[in-house]
Amino acid sequence: QRHLISAADLTRDDAIRILDTAEEMARVADRPIKKLPTLRGRTIVNLFFEDSTRTRISFEAAEKRLSADVINFSAKGSSVSKGESLKDTAQTLEAMGVDAVVIRHGASGAPYRLANSGWIDAAVVNAGDGTHQHPTQALLDAFTMRRRLVGRDTGLGQDLGGRHITIVGDILHSRVARSNVDLLHTLGAEVTLVAPPTLLPVGIESWPCEISYDLDATLPKSDAVMMLRVQSERMNAAFFPTEREYSRRYGLDGERMARMPEHAIVMHPGPMVRGMEITAEVADSGRCTAIEQVANGVSIRMAVLYLLLGGAVFESKNAPVTLQ
Ligand code: CP
Repeated sequence: QRHLISAADLTRDDAIRILDTAEEMARVADRPIKKLPTLRGRTIVNLFFEDSTRTRISFEAAEKRLSADVINFSAKGSSVSKGESLKDTAQTLEAMGVDAVVIRHGASGAPYRLANSGWIDAAVVNAGDGTHQHPTQALLDAFTMRRRLVGRDTGLGQDLGGRHITIVGDILHSRVARSNVDLLHTLGAEVTLVAPPTLLPVGIESWPCEISYDLDATLPKSDAVMMLRVQSERMNAAFFPTEREYSRRYGLDGERMARMPEHAIVMHPGPMVRGMEITAEVADSGRCTAIEQVANGVSIRMAVLYLLLGGAVFESKNAPVTLQ
């Protein structure tokens, strides 16, 4: 059985293979008829226990473009509110003939549990679990960086060696930051995290990246600057610094963006909070790839589902956890 649970489990070859396959999928998206028959007769359930706009719709679009039958499940309005467990929910859905489960869950580790408990036989794809991992987000971010910083055609087969990527903001609660650090390290990029000390996790010293508290000093040497939302909904108490202080020290405005090299891009996984971590001027500028990232997400998710369900075999760093 094949799964995608964590970006940390992907080898360089796995990652390059997904990125290159996504380029093929993007070519399909450019055609008048955007559908492939590849997953005809296969059923995929999108199991969302947490809110989502981009990831949920992007997976659904990817599945439909591959001609899969799609079932959308949202915990809101389901029997989860009556106390039904993840195991019973998953087994109920599998009894209806599901080949793959795309799961987003507020609990870190829920997709791993689903993939490794023996509860179900279906392939499991992590669409974001708690503060842990969001591997398809890291893949679509790497795809966007490779296209912009290496080239759409010249990037095929290439990694991100020698590129400097800065990730700014609420690292503590960010599965996007964790996934990106893991994948970017595998792809040879140098990563710097910039955050207030209160928004860095314990044990950050062991992550394969640099830490800085000075955004202005890191901007001139960055090829891409990824801004993160402050996840107030995951905080029990008011965070320090205050919102105004946070924006002043860690927000990206036009003046700061001008310190970046001319070729450098601004990234954001969304949802953006304009006026907090990013100004409208920057979000709406031609250097911001937030919308491009969303478009690229469909190609990446098509590639992941095609490779997982289409029979390809991956190497894996940490078998049997993930792509295998
Ligand atoms: N980037 C991302 O995961 O967005 P959603 O929460 O809207 O899916």
